[in-house]
Amino acid sequence: MKTQSLTITDNRTGKSYEIPIQYGTYPDYGASISALDLRKIKVSAQDFGLLTYDPGYTNTASCKSSVTFLDGEKGILRYRGYSIEQLAENSTYLETAYLLLNGELPNQTQLAGWHEDVLEHTFVHENIKKLIDGFHHKAHPMGTLVGTVGALSTFYPDAKNIHETDCRDRQIWRLMAKMPTLAAFAYRHSLGLPYVYPDQSLSYVGNFMNMLWKKSELQYQPNPILEKALDVLFILHADHEQNCSTSVMRAVASSYSDPFSATSSAIAALYGPLHGGANEAVLHMLAEIGSVDRVPEFIKTVKSGEVSRLMGFGHRVYKHYDPRATICKKLANDVFSVTGVNPLLAVALELERVALQDDYFISRNLYPNVDFYSGLIYQAMGFPVGMFPVLFAIARNAGWLAQWKEFLLDPDQKIARPRQIYCGDQARDYIAVDNR
Ligand code: CMC
Repeated sequence: MKTQSLTITDNRTGKSYEIPIQYGTYPDYGASISALDLRKIKVSAQDFGLLTYDPGYTNTASCKSSVTFLDGEKGILRYRGYSIEQLAENSTYLETAYLLLNGELPNQTQLAGWHEDVLEHTFVHENIKKLIDGFHHKAHPMGTLVGTVGALSTFYPDAKNIHETDCRDRQIWRLMAKMPTLAAFAYRHSLGLPYVYPDQSLSYVGNFMNMLWKKSELQYQPNPILEKALDVLFILHADHEQNCSTSVMRAVASSYSDPFSATSSAIAALYGPLHGGANEAVLHMLAEIGSVDRVPEFIKTVKSGEVSRLMGFGHRVYKHYDPRATICKKLANDVFSVTGVNPLLAVALELERVALQDDYFISRNLYPNVDFYSGLIYQAMGFPVGMFPVLFAIARNAGWLAQWKEFLLDPDQKIARPRQIYCGDQARDYIAVDNR
């Protein structure tokens, strides 16, 4: 195909520049120009050249990626070309993680090998228990996870050899395997309960449930409906292209930090209420509203700015119903058939109904996102709200690692180092303190 281009005329100088347009897989999605091509646009030889200004990277592609495709206008989400709906229906989290990491669905032998490799690494060094013991019993489990995942780099100093394929794979197994163990230990610590060691005969999610909830029984048997529901929720959260925490993972990895340190940073980014912390914030919000009749009043406070946001609504990329929220809503019924209905469901349904008829939300394309219903399910399953973002982190780990691997193998990538537009003082002389 003949190279297509853009002609830009600089009205300051009258000069025109031809800038090539590049495409990704879809011609109507992701057409872009290289930001560096704009640097040629100058008014003089000393001029640095034109920059783009894009706080929050709302219109800047930081990489070429083959992992996840998202069309926010149409509500489409695909991992490696497979729709989120088909994966949620037919796959498992561990199989989906393999797909994200390797680009193809595994055959039976590959899947069995992957399962074995991950489950084999689920144990953590005994000193990690001491580290967790040192956290306050009221410590938020997400804070504990940030600390303990970061600490893993001190247990595995070989992890810094990020350019060796075998070494990278080993860290991927370790991170995939140990994150649920650390999360479960953080949870048990907050309750003052003894830690439960991994049971490698269970599924990935079944083992996690075992480490969370095993009591004195000889072997923990997860409820199959709840095990499946948690597995599907993990699939829904496994990747979401260049979101805040994934961008942090890539940015930290770009200085060639080890993957434990990079993942710890990604978890820290996920912690915030505008990102992975939103599922926790939704539950606090629903509890505060308390009953269906108080919904209209609450919506009024959001619109007037008295309450800043309707949590679980809106998305940087989706301008349509988040496809993950649709699956979550259906999943809630399966879970509630076992646990009983979460009493806050009625408040959530009414909130959605009222918001979707309100011009404030319609005109801004604000629809429920994945976090609007996931928290209700987690709560019904018995998770305290502080664990919600932790569950998100365990699931997103697969995506972070897939994006990390892609980053390291991409010859275009460099250390992340954005530019700024300096708006401060020009050069001036220092004034001695007595003269100020
Ligand atoms: N409630 C009320 N108004 C909202 C909301 C909301 N949840 N989200 C956006 N708006 C308004 C916002 O006030 C602004 O209005 P105006 O044009 O009058 O100033 C307009 O919509 C555009 O908002 P924005 O802040 O420019 O949008 P953004 O793309 O920067 O933010 C967001 C995206 C997800 C941070 C935001 O929608 C939000 O804060 N939502 C609530 C938190 C939440 O649920 N986050 C989870 C996202 S999904 C999980 C994940 O991937 O992390």
